[in-house]
Amino acid sequence: MSEGLPFKLGAAVLQRIEPLVPANEPGGGDAQILASRRLARQRQFQTGRRCAAELLSALGSSVTEVGVAADRSPVWPPGFVGSITHKDTILGVAVAKASAVGAVGIDIERVLSPKLADDVESVCLIARERELGRRLGIERCLFATLCFSAKESLYKCLYPSVRRFFDHFAAEVIELDVAEGTMRLRLNEHLSSAAPLGRVLAGSFRLRDDHAFTSFELPP
Ligand SMILES: CC(C)(COP(=O)(O)OP(=O)(O)OC[C@H]1O[C@@H](n2cnc3c(N)ncnc32)[C@H](O)[C@@H]1OP(=O)(O)O)[C@@H](O)C(=O)NCCC(=O)NCCS
Repeated sequence: MSEGLPFKLGAAVLQRIEPLVPANEPGGGDAQILASRRLARQRQFQTGRRCAAELLSALGSSVTEVGVAADRSPVWPPGFVGSITHKDTILGVAVAKASAVGAVGIDIERVLSPKLADDVESVCLIARERELGRRLGIERCLFATLCFSAKESLYKCLYPSVRRFFDHFAAEVIELDVAEGTMRLRLNEHLSSAAPLGRVLAGSFRLRDDHAFTSFELPP
């Protein structure tokens, strides 16, 4: 594992974290606010592509462009896998050779407020998960954040093979160890031959500066 880096990923995965300039919210009306948000989104997109290109180049890829599929998922050059995430002022990118890593998914979330934790608990968690959090004695907002982020990074990891939307009830957090930064999720839905009902997938996380950095990687 690469100690000191935000995502707890194996050595075959290169990762990069970049600061992002957030949208400012200028006075003067909706049009200016929208223009400012559009600009921030453009910067976010471009920063992700620049970081991905640098990592692809470091891995020896002659193609360094990452495309965008019609469903908005990233299209990595043949022979490479990767994942992109952004939250507030932080952007993260992870890239690996497909010969070394089958798939990778990363996500960054700011630790949720009590109100957002309520929403996540009711929309993204099942009763057994809420009970797990209570049994483990993990603070409610932190537990909801970790579960939510884990499911988002698992989604990004599995999507290239599943190729369809699946919601937050498709996977269930069945173990979570805050001290170790590890968790296990079980699939409650058959997603693909490689991701069948009942498969248990191990993920990792680190907590830094009020943010959770979650990640999954699969063998080739
Ligand atoms: C697609 C999704 C996972 C993105 O996560 P997010 O927290 O909203 O946003 P993030 O900033 O972390 O990630 C955005 C990046 O994800 C990537 N992405 C978008 N769709 C993707 C997909 N289907 N598969 C993999 N990566 C995807 C893109 O690279 C995007 O960045 P870019 O547009 O600059 O290239 C999320 O919007 C979503 O649809 N979630 C619902 C599905 C889900 O999580 N189910 C749980 C299953 S257990």
